[in-house]
Amino acid sequence: MQYRDFGKTGCKVSVLGFGAMRMPLNNPEEQKDINEEKAIELIRHAIDCGVNYVDTAYFYHGGCSETLVGKALKDGYREKTYVATKLPMGHVNCTEDFDALLNTQLERLDMDYVDFYLFHALNRDHWKKVIDFGLIDKMKQAKAAGKIRHMGFSFHDDLEVFNQILDEYDGCEFCQIQYNYVDTDYQAGAEGLKRAAEMGLGLVVMESLRGGSLVSPAEDIKKQLPENRGCVDNALNFVWNAPEVSLLLSGMGKMEQLEENLVLADNSKVGIFSDEELIKFTNAKAVNDKLSLVPCTKCMYCQPCPAGVEIPEIFAAFNKITQGGRRLVKEIMPDIEDRISKCVKCGKCEKMCPQNIKIIEQLKSIKDKF
Ligand SMILES: NC(=O)c1ccc[n+]([C@@H]2O[C@H](COP(=O)([O-])OP(=O)(O)OC[C@H]3O[C@@H](n4cnc5c(N)ncnc54)[C@H](OP(=O)(O)O)[C@@H]3O)[C@@H](O)[C@H]2O)c1
Repeated sequence: MQYRDFGKTGCKVSVLGFGAMRMPLNNPEEQKDINEEKAIELIRHAIDCGVNYVDTAYFYHGGCSETLVGKALKDGYREKTYVATKLPMGHVNCTEDFDALLNTQLERLDMDYVDFYLFHALNRDHWKKVIDFGLIDKMKQAKAAGKIRHMGFSFHDDLEVFNQILDEYDGCEFCQIQYNYVDTDYQAGAEGLKRAAEMGLGLVVMESLRGGSLVSPAEDIKKQLPENRGCVDNALNFVWNAPEVSLLLSGMGKMEQLEENLVLADNSKVGIFSDEELIKFTNAKAVNDKLSLVPCTKCMYCQPCPAGVEIPEIFAAFNKITQGGRRLVKEIMPDIEDRISKCVKCGKCEKMCPQNIKIIEQLKSIKDKF
């Protein structure tokens, strides 16, 4: 495993981190029903191979991810890895909620402290809450009390909001952003990445594979990429190529995915791509942009939908059909219209979506197309 400096924290982090948001399930319809045996085996194997950063959050797997991570890190594994978790901003309605939530999280994890604590999925509204409720001071107090070691944030909004947070968040040591070869000008993007690194922040990248959609992109996109590597290899190395990046998180629900990503991490390096190869990624992005795909990363934050609409599945099917031609409807999701018809337009999903997708409108427009 290779390690990089984590900003100015003094920590050395493995270039590959384990994202505990996409763990194996007993029942694919039920996010809470984690296959504990397999999930624990994955996390421990990752650590045995040198991974030293495990990322979880209050509401991953319907609130069960932190408990699972706590179990996985028994038997001496806690001492071998850093643990990151996040304050669920949607659950914070007053200053006192900070302590109540952090205490619940430490209980679930069965730990006295976490190494990295993040405000989860900051956007304009969540940042206002941080300021209005004095939550930066709460972070500092938690640090002084030894409940957290380092303070940071994860981010989903535009570059202007990202820059505002960097300017106003006193004591911030690291951030977590979405970054991959098609999202270089989306959310914080390449500009935000550079600025955060210049300020000495540790840089965690999530969604390097855009939640899995860059594993098998459309043929027209694939054709543009450097030829001598596979799609996963290209996508992960595009992120590791950047000197600003400390580590990338991958949600690896299968042992073969973990094994593949461990090998790629071992062989990664800053500047692995030549300038000509980097132009190929820019060309691939240009082709992707023309396709007007729904920017869903299957993070499942919108689930469960009260009306049972499987929003990420529908968007994934629509994106595949858009890339491969309408004849694929029958093969991929013949009942796409019926599935969309279940939507009662309550809007609960839109409040949760970190990509700010206008889900109701988008579903309607897909239904109209078919
Ligand atoms: N803070 C936030 O707001 C936020 C938001 C999103 C994510 N996160 C964190 O960041 C982590 C990483 O994000 P992500 O899970 O979206 O990362 P990602 O790497 O973009 O996507 C993970 C998905 O890629 C596929 N995959 C990974 N390795 C593969 C391989 N070698 N071969 C084929 N497919 C592979 C799997 O898809 P299949 O499952 O379809 O096989 C997996 O579920 C999450 O797990 C979570 O901890 C945080």
